Amino acid sequence: MKEIPLTKPYFDNDEIKEIKDVLDSGWVTQGPKVKEFEEGVARKIRSKHAIAVTNCTAALHLALLCSGVSSGDEVLVADYTFPATGHAVLYCGAKPIFVDIDPDSYNINPEKIEALITDRTRAIIPVHTFGQPARMDEILKIARNHSLSVIEDAACALGAQYKGKYAGAIGDIGCFSFHARKGITTGEGGMLVTNNDEIAAKARHLSMFGMKSAWEREGKARFSVPEFIDVGYNYKMSDITAAVGVAQLRRLDQIIDRKRTLAQHWDTRLDEIEGIDKPYIDPDTISIYQSYVALLNPTIDRNKMIQDLLSRGIQTQIGTYASHMQPVYHAPQTCPCSQDVFHRAISLPMYFTLQETVIDEVAETIQQTIGGYK
Ligand SMILES: Cc1ncc(COP(=O)(O)O)c(C=O)c1O
Repeated sequence: MKEIPLTKPYFDNDEIKEIKDVLDSGWVTQGPKVKEFEEGVARKIRSKHAIAVTNCTAALHLALLCSGVSSGDEVLVADYTFPATGHAVLYCGAKPIFVDIDPDSYNINPEKIEALITDRTRAIIPVHTFGQPARMDEILKIARNHSLSVIEDAACALGAQYKGKYAGAIGDIGCFSFHARKGITTGEGGMLVTNNDEIAAKARHLSMFGMKSAWEREGKARFSVPEFIDVGYNYKMSDITAAVGVAQLRRLDQIIDRKRTLAQHWDTRLDEIEGIDKPYIDPDTISIYQSYVALLNPTIDRNKMIQDLLSRGIQTQIGTYASHMQPVYHAPQTCPCSQDVFHRAISLPMYFTLQETVIDEVAETIQQTIGGYK
């Protein structure tokens, strides 16, 4: 059998042409191509502002700083996520308080939020896990009642929708990733989006060393030397990276449509196999299936299955992490649903150029072998 990867980004001559244009222009750091990419993302998800950065972790860090999170504060974080979410909270000297998930959608369980709010809580970070938006109406209602900011970790969810609204543009700030495994990719990359003018200006400023540029201060009429007024960061995206993003963004809808068709095919095949459940999709959402993550029966040894499938040329993976179990956080709380999904979830091959026949091959192998993973 030919090797079957878990994921595979799709590039063609569009990306090459965009990159060549940038290289030929002689302007390779943040410039007009970044602006074009930012405007494209903002238009797509109907957000007023978009600020391109080096990766989603940087976007989350800036989002927290722009929400006023600082040392000693607490931030409620969906537990089942890549640890970048919790790390960003630690960067601010604040404490991530992990909230358990709904075991069906793998997303934060809004019913578990309120009990964890204290007078030190400043923000909530729901994660749109694997490209399916969290229950934003309930989350926003709680946040508004307690004057908390809502930062969407939409790393995996560019183009996903919740009740007709685009993920990332529903809360106060949204953060996207363009890492290789995401819906569209620039290799590494991220974006912060918001409708709030002040937040946008602050995020831009902090992404550029906390510098007040001469143009901003004096207008374009007269040259003067920039000043540094805050400890900012170098989180700027380059025009070379943005060139890839511009080309990728043009085919975002095509990629989403194809992956949704493939997910339906996976669903049909998994319905025929005992011991593995297809992912649940909340009817209020349109998932972009950043990953296709199924749930195994507790009697099945998931790690043994991943290892065995790999030896047969099929790459699979765990879903993502139960943050509270990661030693770095020293988290006192327990999140039993997240812990359970962490042990039982399996990510199956899913990418734009995947073929139904390959899904059939993998499904048949799983059907034949699943009884042996005890
Ligand atoms: C939910 C989630 N948040 C944040 C990140 C961090 O994104 P990046 O790698 O762009 O920093 C990831 C990346 O895997 C993610 O899956």
